[in-house]
Amino acid sequence: MNFKDYIRVIPDFPQPGIRFKDITTLLKDAAAYRAAIDALKELVKDKEIDLIAGPEARGFVIGAPLAIELGVGFVPIRKSGKLPGETVEAAYDLEYGKDRLAIHSDAIKPGQKVLIADDLLATGGTISSTINLINQLGGEIVGAAFLIELSYLNGRDKLGGLDVVSLVTY
Ligand code: PRP
Repeated sequence: MNFKDYIRVIPDFPQPGIRFKDITTLLKDAAAYRAAIDALKELVKDKEIDLIAGPEARGFVIGAPLAIELGVGFVPIRKSGKLPGETVEAAYDLEYGKDRLAIHSDAIKPGQKVLIADDLLATGGTISSTINLINQLGGEIVGAAFLIELSYLNGRDKLGGLDVVSLVTY
C-alpha cells in the first residue's frame, strides 16, 4: 500500500510555509489504518519490547494500536499539567513552538525495554525530549517507529544513533 496516497498535505498550516501532513485521512480509512499498524509491527517485530511510549496526541493513535498488536503495554507522554500522578518533565522545541512533556514517574521500571512511537518525525525535538524522559526513569530505549519522517529536517541526526524506522518519507 502506498501510504502517501492516504496522507493529505495542507499548505500553510499552522503557519505560513509549513506543509502539514494530515493523517486524519489515513486514520478514517479502516484498511489503510490497519495496514499502517501492521507495517510498523513488521518493522519492529524482531525487537524485544516491554512497553511502547508515545507522545500526545498523534503518538497515541499510532502507539496504542501498535502496543495492542505487539501484546505490550502503552505509556502516554503528555504535555505538562495533564497527567494526574507524580511526573518527571523535559522541555522541548518543535517545528513550530515550544512546550514541556511529562511522564508518570512510575510508568517505566529501570531496565524495561521501551519502543517510542509517534506519527511524525520532524525536527526530532519531541522525540529528544521523550528520550530524555525515558532515560530519567531508567528505561532502555530499543528504537523509535514513525508513520512519517520529514527527512529534510534531519530529525534522525538528533537522536544519537537510535534505531529509527518510518513508513513514509518526505
Ligand atoms: C507533532 C507530531 C510529532 C511532533 C513532530 O506533534 O505529532 O509528535 O510534532 O515534530 P518534531 O520532530 O519537530 O518534534 P504536536 O506537538 O504538533 O502535537 P499533537 O500530536 O498533539 O498535534
